[in-house]
Amino acid sequence: MKERLTRENTREKKKKPSPQYETVQASQKMLKSLEIMRDETLKGGGVELIEDQHRRGKLTARERIDLLLDEGSFEEFDLLKTGRGGAFGQEQRYAGDGVITGHGTIDGREVFMFSQDFTVRGGSLGEAHSQKISKVMDHAVRVGAPLIGLNDSGGARIQEGVDALASYGDIFKRNALASGMIPQISCIMGPCAGGAVYSPALTDFIFMVEDTSYMFVTGPNVVETVTHTTISHEDLGGAKIHGEKSGVAHFVLPNDILCLREVRRLINYLPSNNRQRAPILDLSDPAERTDPALDYIVPENSNQSYDMKVLIHSILDGAEFLEIQSLYARNIICGFGRLGGQTIGLVANQPFVLAGVLDNNASTKAARFVRFCDAFNIPLICLVDVPGFMPGPEQEQGGIIQHGAKLLYAFIEATVPRITVIVRKAYGGAYVVMNSKHIGSDINYAWPSAEIAVMGPKGAAEVIFRKEIQSASDPAAALAQRTEEYRKTYVNPFLSAQRGYIDDVIFPRDTRHRIIRSLQFLEGKKRERPERLHGNIPL
Ligand code: HXC
Repeated sequence: MKERLTRENTREKKKKPSPQYETVQASQKMLKSLEIMRDETLKGGGVELIEDQHRRGKLTARERIDLLLDEGSFEEFDLLKTGRGGAFGQEQRYAGDGVITGHGTIDGREVFMFSQDFTVRGGSLGEAHSQKISKVMDHAVRVGAPLIGLNDSGGARIQEGVDALASYGDIFKRNALASGMIPQISCIMGPCAGGAVYSPALTDFIFMVEDTSYMFVTGPNVVETVTHTTISHEDLGGAKIHGEKSGVAHFVLPNDILCLREVRRLINYLPSNNRQRAPILDLSDPAERTDPALDYIVPENSNQSYDMKVLIHSILDGAEFLEIQSLYARNIICGFGRLGGQTIGLVANQPFVLAGVLDNNASTKAARFVRFCDAFNIPLICLVDVPGFMPGPEQEQGGIIQHGAKLLYAFIEATVPRITVIVRKAYGGAYVVMNSKHIGSDINYAWPSAEIAVMGPKGAAEVIFRKEIQSASDPAAALAQRTEEYRKTYVNPFLSAQRGYIDDVIFPRDTRHRIIRSLQFLEGKKRERPERLHGNIPL
């Protein structure tokens, strides 16, 4: 029977809402307060400080995440986590504690990340802040995905004392243990001072933003007190200094937007972890493509320079090359490219800068790059034009013995597919170090212009024929004649080819094709290492 709608029963209904109606109301209230709580948290330190951040030419921590990750892919952890609070301005507890953490995707591939929020206590790192970072680091290692840190912080939160220092220790430990397991990338997008610099320093790649970022162990004030020298933040540890002089920064970009775009580009070259291979990307560049112009890039005069980057761009898929430390130790070129769609790590001497000589900085730069590639299953391609190690007291006193040994050690240890092309000079110890057959390279090609010998022809003639030249009626002519004889006999790739140290003397135009064919057959290379805890690289 239908219920009759009378004045009485409507009044009754108003007085006593149904249990479902009450549930809906309560839920809506709860959801609203969660929404308010979350909205409040999303504002970080407040509108004024956000505007301040923008005035400095910096994006906010959340704006950076939006640019770094694929749209809508970010999943946040610990949005509501707070610190313990305390005295000296710590009475107010900020949800999130000055850092945003979580995961998302870059071109569909998972990454974990944290982004420090300078608007909350200057992004300083306390216990809760650090626990949030440690949590994403642990997830990244467990699932095998890269970790990206966006750093913008005043360092250890002073009010938290030794807890803040301990918290840094927790992060450093994770950085070191994750090394070689997942790629770790640090973007310095604001201050980074004191011991705080050591977390980025333990990661694989450091990006810095011009004018707004700096890194130093002791700031200008301490420098002035201790050394009585006045120096600006920029000159002490700005992006230019670390990009060009110290080599601490692998990438220097003019602003936050371009920096984050470059991080996305780098990620595309890398595998997610050390158990995987880097993603294959077909750039529709035929493997058989030849480049006749390469037959003519090496000048006839062997003392004349040329730009190795012409060769690099010519052989790589789509001429795309991501150079690392492009402003530092420019006599050696390191970077990522693709051959047949596969990521490769490229190490090449640059005759354009210091004749491509190996010095302290170049050796260290290349050694670290080789180790990264080997840890992450990225085949190594080495293009050689090296007159030798840089002579002189500056280099010897700076430890060229040790630094050169780093590169030697790094190549010897590398078990990824390794291919070398000797383009022109390959003299002395530098010939051996630059991924020669003798230290484990899989395939070694030489161009007909290759000069493989113990030393250059003039130096060799001076040593071997010293007495004869000194007693000659025309010593200069005698030296020139002996130099030419030595050049013809020894300075070529054919002696090496006869010994099998060079697998083939190739036509320059075929370089791309020959390397890709070698990479294809090396695909199944078995990688073995002696059983030991670890070696002792000459650090
Ligand atoms: C607590 C900090 C802080 C810190 C900044 N703030 N650094 N709070 N601990 N380390 C707070 C400020 O008090 C301020 O809060 C807000 O963040 C913004 O800072 P400002 O000074 O107003 O900004 P700015 O002028 O841009 O200067 C930024 C700065 C400066 C250069 C980073 O704040 C600074 O010098 N901070 C101290 C840096 C430092 O010495 N850190 C310790 C490094 S040693 P309010 O409330 O006023 O807005 C270290 C050891 C690690 O980190 C060891 C690991 C083993």
